Amino acid sequence: MYRSQKLSLRYFTAAIVLFGVMILFGLLSALYYLYPSMLFNVFNFSTSKILHIDTLVIWLLMAFMGAVYWYLPKELGHEVVGMRLAEITFWVFCAVVAVVALVFVFVQYGSANEFTLWFINQGRKYVEAPRWATIGVVAVMLVFAYNVIGTAVKARRMTGIMWVLVLDLIPLLIVYLDAFPAPTNMSVDLYWWWWLVHMWVESTWEVLIGCVMALVLMDVMGTSRRIVEAWLYIEVMLVLGAGILGLGHHYFWIGTPRYWLGIGGFFSALEPLPLLGMVIHSIYDAGMHRMKTANRPAFYWITAEAFGNFIGAGVWGFMMTLPQINLFSHGTQWTVSHGHFAFYGAYVCGVLAVFYVAKQKTAGTEFLDGRAWKWSFGLFNFGMIGMVMGLLIAGMAQAFYGRAIGGSTLMAFTQASENPWFIAGMYARMGFGVIFALGYVVLVYDLLTAPRRVPAPQTPMEPA
Ligand code: HEM
Ligand code: HEM
Ligand SMILES: [Fe+2]
Repeated sequence: MYRSQKLSLRYFTAAIVLFGVMILFGLLSALYYLYPSMLFNVFNFSTSKILHIDTLVIWLLMAFMGAVYWYLPKELGHEVVGMRLAEITFWVFCAVVAVVALVFVFVQYGSANEFTLWFINQGRKYVEAPRWATIGVVAVMLVFAYNVIGTAVKARRMTGIMWVLVLDLIPLLIVYLDAFPAPTNMSVDLYWWWWLVHMWVESTWEVLIGCVMALVLMDVMGTSRRIVEAWLYIEVMLVLGAGILGLGHHYFWIGTPRYWLGIGGFFSALEPLPLLGMVIHSIYDAGMHRMKTANRPAFYWITAEAFGNFIGAGVWGFMMTLPQINLFSHGTQWTVSHGHFAFYGAYVCGVLAVFYVAKQKTAGTEFLDGRAWKWSFGLFNFGMIGMVMGLLIAGMAQAFYGRAIGGSTLMAFTQASENPWFIAGMYARMGFGVIFALGYVVLVYDLLTAPRRVPAPQTPMEPA
């Protein structure tokens, strides 16, 4: 095994641990909706939610990095350059995450000043980590970029997928720097913050997962490079074509000029197209290979990714992306329904495929015959779809009763929160969340016990 693949196993382990932490705080956050005064002033909803969504961002980032470290030496036929540095930064990364998490847990209140921005909390959703940690993450990403680019230079080789990946790293890093300045005008602040959030999940991460999926497809289906690269270019073009100005769907109600209503509505309505392309691509590949695959769990998860990405991001996003509808759905549980479905479908399913690819290489092929992965696959999907539906019903109740009928007053908001449909949705989310968590338990069981359930790996890993 290449040295960078050993590092990627470490990244995957860290990612799976944080995935667990994320689910725990997800469950806790959901409980506040059923018992609103729970742990009041001891451990507040806001902190629980921060831990839920920040660990989400970090574990997915770690999983992406692990996926790249896994495939990079195979793609370029060369050991990754700067491995020592990469190994050190892995531990730095873990330490930064642990310190930030502890600070969030223990320092929940305080004044809002420069000191807080630097050491406690920046207060921006998804990227609450204080500035010192942001600098740390940037340093980790720079080392990562050096590994990728350095290897390409040393190997004197570059593939189409690698070009897309390297070029994607540039905007990915630049929009993250958005998390530094702290304008005092709320509209200006939100204006730039959306660059980060939207350009990550709807542009740069989509391109990144597109590259990862291309690599996995070649690996587990034996799809030809020519075909995956051709699709990748088309998808990237469409993602960027619609995604960049699609940013406007976050500019409807934050004090930006009116023309964003038209621009945002139009371009973001086109955003499902590349995602539909990915579904067609995966069906095409599966058909071409008569569903034959070297790794069934990975194949199941990439198929789930293609559909989950299209439905969760594309269809659920499209549902509320026109300003005429967003006026009512904005910021309700409807949004939360889309947020869960999209993150899960587009990214979680994709990285789970890579975990199984890595597991097959380290534990041998026989473990894939086990039943545990099917249970985990079923519980995850059943749990997520149940949660998403519960949230959608709750969100629609808010939109109809709180917004359309109630006129968006505080009183109407409160009344909508007492509506039976809303409450039923919150209970459903909790119940299905537990099912989702069971899927995680089975996943961990499957990955941990796989090597023990089968004899040692059958064939030694072939470099290149
Ligand atoms: C056991 C499973 C889970 C439970 C119970 C859960 C619960 C929650 C809760 C209660 C919130 C706060 C919503 C609010 O502020 O009103 C939330 C937010 C969020 N969760 Fe989860 N979650 C779970 C799994 C996941 C997964 C697997 C993902 C991603 C793949 C995810 C991504 C998010 C995101 C992006 C938000 C912010 C959404 C928004 O504010 O619009 N969660 N979650
Ligand atoms: C993988 C891709 C995607 C992910 C992970 C994702 C995730 C999210 C999340 C987490 C939010 C809530 C942000 C917040 O307020 O905290 C959100 C909002 C939104 N998303 Fe997506 N999304 C994706 C793709 C799309 C697409 C393709 C569309 C349109 C077709 C879309 C339309 C929207 C809209 C309109 C909102 C604002 C909702 C509101 O007004 O409350 N999203 N998305
Ligand atoms: Fe967006």
